[in-house]
Amino acid sequence: MDNSSAAEPACVEAGAITEIAFTLNGAAARAQIAPRQHMVDVLRQVFGLTGTHLGCEHGVCGACHILVDGHVVRGCLMLAIQANGAEVVTIEGLNASGAIADLQEAFVRRNALQCGFCTPGMLMTAHALLQRDCAPQRAHIRETISGNICRCTGYHAIVDAIEATARERREARDAK
Ligand code: FES
Ligand code: FES
Repeated sequence: MDNSSAAEPACVEAGAITEIAFTLNGAAARAQIAPRQHMVDVLRQVFGLTGTHLGCEHGVCGACHILVDGHVVRGCLMLAIQANGAEVVTIEGLNASGAIADLQEAFVRRNALQCGFCTPGMLMTAHALLQRDCAPQRAHIRETISGNICRCTGYHAIVDAIEATARERREARDAK
Protein backbone atom coordinates (compact mmCIF):
# COMPACT_ATOMS: atom_id res chain seq x y z
CA MET A 1 0.00 0.00 0.00
CA ASP A 2 1.31 3.45 -0.91
CA ASN A 3 1.42 5.68 2.12
CA SER A 4 3.32 8.46 0.43
CA SER A 5 0.34 10.83 0.69
CA ALA A 6 -0.17 10.23 4.43
CA ALA A 7 0.36 13.36 6.48
CA GLU A 8 3.75 13.33 8.19
CA PRO A 9 4.39 15.39 11.31
CA ALA A 10 6.21 18.55 10.34
CA CYS A 11 9.82 18.60 11.52
CA VAL A 12 10.57 21.69 13.59
CA GLU A 13 14.07 22.63 14.63
CA ALA A 14 14.64 22.86 18.34
CA GLY A 15 14.45 26.52 19.29
CA ALA A 16 12.78 27.57 16.04
CA ILE A 17 9.64 29.70 16.24
CA THR A 18 6.62 28.27 14.53
CA GLU A 19 2.99 29.27 14.27
CA ILE A 20 0.08 27.24 15.51
CA ALA A 21 -3.57 27.79 14.61
CA PHE A 22 -6.34 26.36 16.74
CA THR A 23 -9.73 27.12 18.23
CA LEU A 24 -9.59 28.72 21.66
CA ASN A 25 -12.82 29.05 23.61
CA GLY A 26 -14.80 29.01 20.39
CA ALA A 27 -12.74 31.56 18.46
CA ALA A 28 -9.94 31.15 15.94
CA ALA A 29 -6.53 31.68 17.53
CA ARG A 30 -2.94 31.83 16.34
CA ALA A 31 0.30 31.98 18.29
CA GLN A 32 4.00 32.12 17.55
CA ILE A 33 5.58 29.51 19.77
CA ALA A 34 8.83 27.69 20.37
CA PRO A 35 8.56 23.89 20.07
CA ARG A 36 9.61 23.45 23.69
CA GLN A 37 6.79 25.64 25.08
CA HIS A 38 4.02 24.00 27.05
CA MET A 39 0.38 24.74 26.39
CA VAL A 40 -0.29 26.15 29.85
CA ASP A 41 2.49 28.72 29.39
CA VAL A 42 1.14 29.82 26.02
CA LEU A 43 -2.38 30.15 27.40
CA ARG A 44 -1.21 32.20 30.36
CA GLN A 45 1.56 34.27 28.79
CA VAL A 46 0.41 34.74 25.18
CA PHE A 47 -3.36 34.81 25.66
CA GLY A 48 -3.51 36.09 29.25
CA LEU A 49 -5.79 33.21 30.27
CA THR A 50 -4.48 32.89 33.80
CA GLY A 51 -7.44 30.87 35.06
CA THR A 52 -5.45 27.82 34.02
CA HIS A 53 -3.10 27.50 36.98
CA LEU A 54 0.40 26.12 37.26
CA GLY A 55 1.11 24.08 40.37
CA CYS A 56 3.50 21.16 40.19
CA GLU A 57 4.43 21.59 36.52
CA HIS A 58 4.97 17.85 36.17
CA GLY A 59 1.56 16.27 35.79
CA VAL A 60 0.60 15.60 39.40
CA CYS A 61 -1.73 18.31 40.73
CA GLY A 62 -4.30 18.92 37.97
CA ALA A 63 -4.30 22.70 38.43
CA CYS A 64 -3.52 23.12 34.72
CA HIS A 65 -6.45 21.12 33.35
CA ILE A 66 -7.88 22.24 30.03
CA LEU A 67 -10.17 20.60 27.49
CA VAL A 68 -8.59 19.57 24.20
CA ASP A 69 -11.00 18.15 21.63
CA GLY A 70 -13.35 17.41 24.52
CA HIS A 71 -10.80 15.56 26.65
CA VAL A 72 -9.35 16.76 29.94
CA VAL A 73 -5.64 17.35 29.40
CA ARG A 74 -2.86 18.52 31.69
CA GLY A 75 -1.63 21.74 30.11
CA CYS A 76 1.77 21.42 31.78
CA LEU A 77 2.43 18.13 29.98
CA MET A 78 1.10 19.17 26.58
CA LEU A 79 3.38 20.93 24.15
CA ALA A 80 1.70 23.95 22.59
CA ILE A 81 2.58 22.68 19.14
CA GLN A 82 0.24 19.75 19.79
CA ALA A 83 -2.67 22.21 19.88
CA ASN A 84 -2.30 22.95 16.18
CA GLY A 85 -5.72 22.25 14.63
CA ALA A 86 -7.29 21.34 17.97
CA GLU A 87 -10.25 22.76 19.86
CA VAL A 88 -9.09 24.07 23.23
CA VAL A 89 -11.35 25.23 26.04
CA THR A 90 -10.06 26.87 29.21
CA ILE A 91 -11.89 27.65 32.42
CA GLU A 92 -12.59 31.13 31.02
CA GLY A 93 -14.40 29.58 28.06
CA LEU A 94 -16.39 27.20 30.23
CA ASN A 95 -17.31 30.06 32.54
CA ALA A 96 -18.41 32.33 29.69
CA SER A 97 -20.55 29.61 28.13
CA GLY A 98 -22.60 29.20 31.31
CA ALA A 99 -22.12 25.44 31.08
CA ILE A 100 -20.82 25.18 34.63
CA ALA A 101 -22.80 27.97 36.30
CA ASP A 102 -24.69 25.50 38.48
CA LEU A 103 -21.50 23.60 39.33
CA GLN A 104 -19.77 26.84 40.32
CA GLU A 105 -22.76 27.82 42.43
CA ALA A 106 -22.71 24.41 44.14
CA PHE A 107 -18.98 24.80 44.89
CA VAL A 108 -19.73 28.10 46.62
CA ARG A 109 -22.81 26.80 48.44
CA ARG A 110 -21.02 23.67 49.70
CA ASN A 111 -17.76 25.44 50.64
CA ALA A 112 -15.90 23.34 48.07
CA LEU A 113 -13.16 25.93 47.73
CA GLN A 114 -11.05 27.91 50.12
CA CYS A 115 -7.95 29.46 48.52
CA GLY A 116 -9.35 28.54 45.10
CA PHE A 117 -6.04 27.55 43.54
CA CYS A 118 -7.19 24.05 42.60
CA THR A 119 -10.70 25.15 41.65
CA PRO A 120 -10.37 25.79 37.89
CA GLY A 121 -8.80 22.37 37.35
CA MET A 122 -11.29 20.76 39.71
CA LEU A 123 -14.22 22.33 37.82
CA MET A 124 -12.78 21.09 34.51
CA THR A 125 -12.56 17.54 35.85
CA ALA A 126 -16.03 17.70 37.40
CA HIS A 127 -17.54 19.13 34.22
CA ALA A 128 -16.07 16.33 32.12
CA LEU A 129 -17.33 13.73 34.59
CA LEU A 130 -20.87 15.14 34.57
CA GLN A 131 -20.85 15.21 30.78
CA ARG A 132 -20.44 11.44 30.65
CA ASP A 133 -22.16 10.35 33.88
CA CYS A 134 -25.34 12.05 35.06
CA ALA A 135 -25.54 10.03 38.29
CA PRO A 136 -21.99 9.43 39.53
CA GLN A 137 -21.52 7.53 42.78
CA ARG A 138 -19.44 9.24 45.47
CA ALA A 139 -16.67 6.66 45.09
CA HIS A 140 -16.55 7.35 41.37
CA ILE A 141 -16.43 11.11 41.96
CA ARG A 142 -13.55 10.60 44.39
CA GLU A 143 -11.69 8.42 41.93
CA THR A 144 -12.25 10.93 39.12
CA ILE A 145 -10.94 13.90 41.10
CA SER A 146 -8.00 11.89 42.46
CA GLY A 147 -5.84 13.55 39.81
CA ASN A 148 -6.60 16.99 41.26
CA ILE A 149 -4.80 17.97 44.44
CA CYS A 150 -6.54 20.31 46.88
CA ARG A 151 -4.57 21.47 49.89
CA CYS A 152 -7.50 23.14 51.63
CA THR A 153 -10.86 21.43 51.55
CA GLY A 154 -10.32 17.80 52.49
CA TYR A 155 -12.30 16.85 49.35
CA HIS A 156 -15.60 16.01 51.11
CA ALA A 157 -17.15 19.34 50.17
CA ILE A 158 -15.99 19.00 46.57
CA VAL A 159 -17.58 15.57 46.30
CA ASP A 160 -20.74 17.03 47.88
CA ALA A 161 -20.84 19.84 45.31
CA ILE A 162 -20.39 17.54 42.33
CA GLU A 163 -22.95 15.05 43.65
CA ALA A 164 -25.44 17.85 44.34
CA THR A 165 -25.00 19.29 40.84
CA ALA A 166 -25.62 15.90 39.27
CA ARG A 167 -28.76 15.42 41.37
CA GLU A 168 -30.11 18.91 40.64
CA ARG A 169 -29.52 18.45 36.90
CA ARG A 170 -31.41 15.17 36.97
CA GLU A 171 -34.28 16.77 38.92
CA ALA A 172 -34.44 19.67 36.46
CA ARG A 173 -34.43 17.28 33.53
CA ASP A 174 -37.17 15.08 35.07
CA ALA A 175 -39.33 18.12 35.83
CA LYS A 176 -39.56 19.03 32.14
FE1 FES B 1 0.03 20.49 35.56
FE2 FES B 1 0.30 20.24 38.19
S1 FES B 1 0.65 22.01 36.96
S2 FES B 1 -0.48 18.76 36.77
FE1 FES C 1 -7.11 25.66 48.10
FE2 FES C 1 -8.14 23.60 46.75
S1 FES C 1 -9.22 25.28 47.64
S2 FES C 1 -6.06 24.14 46.97
